[in-house]
Amino acid sequence: MVSERIQAIRGMNDILPGQAALWQTLERCAAATFQSYGYHPVRLPIVERTELFKRSIGEVTDIIEKEMYTFQDRGGDSVSLRPEGTAGAVRAGIEHGLLYNQVQRLWYAGPMFRYERPQKGRYRQFHQIGVEAFGLEGPDVDAEIILMSARLWRRLGIGRLTLKLNSLGTLEARKAYRQRLVDYFSAHRTALDEDSRRRLETNPLRILDSKSEQMRPLIEGAPSLLDHLDAASSDHFARLRELLDAAGLEYEIDARLVRGLDYYSRTVFEWITRDLGAQDAVCSGGRYDDLVAQLGGRPTPGIGFAMGVERLVSLMEHQEVTVDDLSPHVYLAWSGEAVQTAAVALAERLRDEVRGLRVLLHAGGGGFKAQLRRADRSGARYALILGEAETHERCVQMKPLRADEAQSQVPWSALAATLAGKLGLVTDERAVAEEF
Ligand code: HAM
Repeated sequence: MVSERIQAIRGMNDILPGQAALWQTLERCAAATFQSYGYHPVRLPIVERTELFKRSIGEVTDIIEKEMYTFQDRGGDSVSLRPEGTAGAVRAGIEHGLLYNQVQRLWYAGPMFRYERPQKGRYRQFHQIGVEAFGLEGPDVDAEIILMSARLWRRLGIGRLTLKLNSLGTLEARKAYRQRLVDYFSAHRTALDEDSRRRLETNPLRILDSKSEQMRPLIEGAPSLLDHLDAASSDHFARLRELLDAAGLEYEIDARLVRGLDYYSRTVFEWITRDLGAQDAVCSGGRYDDLVAQLGGRPTPGIGFAMGVERLVSLMEHQEVTVDDLSPHVYLAWSGEAVQTAAVALAERLRDEVRGLRVLLHAGGGGFKAQLRRADRSGARYALILGEAETHERCVQMKPLRADEAQSQVPWSALAATLAGKLGLVTDERAVAEEF
């Protein structure tokens, strides 16, 4: 009897070896870029108390109203899979006393969960790489994280991204603006679609974010948030623009960019691509100067962003960016049990002696012909062939698989240096010295 196969949950993807090089290149470049600005990695729990997300993201947001994976744990507590990383970072910062009167520059990476309708670029389990900077209220930090994201795109070789920028002002300014907006949309109530009518009661700013064609003219005529900023937020925004201008970074001001999470104040931004269809935001973030206090900490300013790894990976694929080569440098082929013992030792020694050398040691049986076919398929640059005669003479046959070079015989004692020379790697002098 054949059992029924169990499949993955809708919207939750397996990331398979064919995608490994793209993911690894992105993760490695992000880590290196953040490190070059003094940001430190943190690892935070995937499950948190539901209350944390309600109090930070906001009760009347899509995430809290309909997208959270919430359940009771066996102790009866309501817990949720994290839909994003900022709330957990703030919670951890307060809990460990990292925030008050201190500056913290942090980054994280990992899976997030939202029960959304899956489509291209929108999943129920997806991955973010995010940064959060705490304790700095000036616009220089806003510029820092935006320039840092732009540097990452350059480093990856991703092009054609547009930076959209807006300021939401302070909480008070937004309250006043909210009333203006309610007055405006109430006067046009009959022209509102169903979703917007509902938002008018709960979260009127989100009407500006509506993608409906029917709503477009009405939204375009709405009062602009930027005309209702408080003076300090206005100065903050002007200085940020000056800093970005001075750095030569282009952006578009988008007064309708309001974001789907409630904790933002002042600067908000999004990097948008035209290459991926409807799910066009690859990185979004902003300032959240009230959030730490809202979650019970002492008032501490904060700002950050998160990028959608799946979307960036699709974009890297689409734009055919150069990614890390993960294929082995050498494939070590051997035959016979006595030779296998020497082959295992030789492979270990080469990994010791040449820094970063990727050695794929043949496993399983098979003659040299079959092994060389596998070597070729593995993408290796060289096959090293070890038979009984070679083992006896302490040498290998070195067969180039990609370049038009002659096959040669190389003694074990010279193998590390020969490979390092041909592959542009360096030998680890200490390991070589110990061996001979
Ligand atoms: P967010 O805009 O909700 O912000 O998500 C950030 C990014 O995650 C989006 O720009 C998008 O690339 C990706 N993303 C979101 N939802 C999905 C999904 N269902 N499938 C695939 N990708 C998705 C935040 O999460 C904030 N915590 C960002 C932040 C950090 N603000 C300040 N600090």
